Amino acid sequence: MKLKIAKLPGDGIGPEVVEQAVKVTDAVCSLFGHEVEYRFGLAGACAIDATGSPFPEETYRICTEADAVLFGAVGDPRYDNDPTAKVRPEQGLLAMRKQLGLYANLRPVETFKPLIHKSPLREELVDGADLLCIRELTGGMYFGEKGRLDGGDTAYDTNIYHRYEVERILKLAFDYARRRRGHLTVVDKANVLESSRLWRQVAQEMAPLYPDVVTDYMFVDNAAMKLVTGPEFFDVMVTENTFGDILTDEASCISGSMGLLASASIGEKTGVFEPIHGSYPQAAGKNIANPLATILSAAMMFEYAFALKEEGAAIRRAVAASIEEGVVTEDLSAGGKAYSTSEVGDWVASRICR
Ligand code: IPM
Ligand code: MN
Repeated sequence: MKLKIAKLPGDGIGPEVVEQAVKVTDAVCSLFGHEVEYRFGLAGACAIDATGSPFPEETYRICTEADAVLFGAVGDPRYDNDPTAKVRPEQGLLAMRKQLGLYANLRPVETFKPLIHKSPLREELVDGADLLCIRELTGGMYFGEKGRLDGGDTAYDTNIYHRYEVERILKLAFDYARRRRGHLTVVDKANVLESSRLWRQVAQEMAPLYPDVVTDYMFVDNAAMKLVTGPEFFDVMVTENTFGDILTDEASCISGSMGLLASASIGEKTGVFEPIHGSYPQAAGKNIANPLATILSAAMMFEYAFALKEEGAAIRRAVAASIEEGVVTEDLSAGGKAYSTSEVGDWVASRICR
């Protein structure tokens, strides 16, 4: 198969971790006989520096012409403490999501036995947790009308959802629940928010079409608690954009390191595969960042964008081996030898086998 991949490393540690995912992708392609072609695109602060835009037209074109996008991270401390900045790196990510129609963000959370002790939660709580968070990604407060009134002293963001947006994400969630353990939890704040009541109404209409799925409804505050008191309750969780942003950071703690969590954003055009962690500027250029989340995102890319299950599984096995054998970066090494970002990438690439 011929794989056309857009490579958007972005800012901070993005380039270092994406480079490792590329090594691993190359190893998979040479073993399984695929031809791979990468095209580089700018996104985030580096794109602002070079072109003035955080998601230049050229990058959009490269993405739409590719079969999958491998993305690193965006963000730069130069912008974080400046609420007046007119253009920000994060706008590049949001523009990419909107322009590529990436309405579904899939964030699987699983535990790795050898790392369970790294979780801030007690071992018996997290052992066996295996959930898929599905976050709506192109609606809600992130994209609703926002602005300032009263000469700047009043500010608002609108949490708006249209029925079609809710239907398509719920359909995807029911389908995933069906393919997993048949349990879907719809997370909302229907006791307070009108938009949540629309979500719940649509979900209740759709649930009878999926008699093989057990559907339940949970308020977001309760879900936040349940994630840390009994995460094994969840199979597939679906929620709106802002709740999903917050809950998936929380859920990432379950596995012990944010450096392990991969994600896939899929929708109308090319899918984007990226780690859930940010650009971690303090570590940029130091060759210490954990590349496993990005490498696992490459596994999701094989599985979701190319329907190449075996290739994805080969990456997952190599990553599991690196964890078992302690070939990991300092965030996971627990006093043992810490390997560098590139050493972990080389090791995982060298362990790709059928
Ligand atoms: C994420 C990030 C982004 C978000 C930021 C960088 C805009 O936190 O992908 O979860 O809030 O969606
Ligand atoms: Mn986030």
